[in-house]
Amino acid sequence: MSGFVSLVGAGPGDPDLLTVKATRALAAADLVFYDALLSTDMLELAPHAQKFSVGKRCGKPAIRQETIHALLIRAAKRGKRVVRLKGGDPFVFGRGGEEALALAAAGVAFEVIPGISNSIAAPELAGIPVTHRGVSSAFVVVSAHEEATFRPVLQGLTPGSVTVVALMGLGTRARVASVLVEGGWPESTPAAVVLGAGSANAHTWRGTLSSLGDAAFPDSAAGLPGTLVAGNVVSLAAVIAPARRDSRPAVSAQGAS
Ligand SMILES: C[S@@+](CC[C@H](N)C(=O)[O-])C[C@H]1O[C@@H](n2cnc3c(N)ncnc32)[C@H](O)[C@@H]1O
Repeated sequence: MSGFVSLVGAGPGDPDLLTVKATRALAAADLVFYDALLSTDMLELAPHAQKFSVGKRCGKPAIRQETIHALLIRAAKRGKRVVRLKGGDPFVFGRGGEEALALAAAGVAFEVIPGISNSIAAPELAGIPVTHRGVSSAFVVVSAHEEATFRPVLQGLTPGSVTVVALMGLGTRARVASVLVEGGWPESTPAAVVLGAGSANAHTWRGTLSSLGDAAFPDSAAGLPGTLVAGNVVSLAAVIAPARRDSRPAVSAQGAS
């Protein structure tokens, strides 16, 4: 009996933003290994499955990536239908590629189900189009976890030419702003921080590169994951955000990484 692993992108956290294919994989799952960022409401879509959190959270001991690989492989070899549920898209800063390689090396059958990446969905849910005709014709997504990684990318950009989206950058937002300003971006460039997109307690801060480093957030947003956006498209949210209506309220968020 051979099992099967679905590497599933969960989108920003609202179960309504899962793909149909993702909900089918969850419904059929025997086991779900899920990330810390995900709403537990989503897990109700896997009623027959045993669920295990293998998420990594800032400041807390993280389960090793190799351990996750071993858990997936062992479960599949025992004939289980396994869902590895990952925030956003599995292949965008999600280590989904590493999990796919590990499964391939172990001879385990698997599929990859794309999810809506927060790099697009978080700005969008805050009323910010990452591209907009006449304003920005490209967007660049960086991991802001380490300056050594994002600095060379941001330094290579012509000031104001693109939209910059930075994931894992809440703690480094002052550095992201400084690197852009040092590279010639005007301090007045609009910037935003989108916290807990897709959740009921989502919050968006909007300001400029000069104020991004000192951006303060309400207590209700404490612990939520956040996505940074810089570029003139952020100004469009002043019109789009108040005008848009959600057809269904979002679910409560779980936490942050
Ligand atoms: C390890 S990265 C994974 C990205 C994910 N694979 C994707 O495609 O969205 C986690 C980062 O995604 C962003 N993020 C995740 N969930 C978010 C949310 N609900 N709202 C805003 N940003 C979020 C944050 O920048 C967080 O630090």
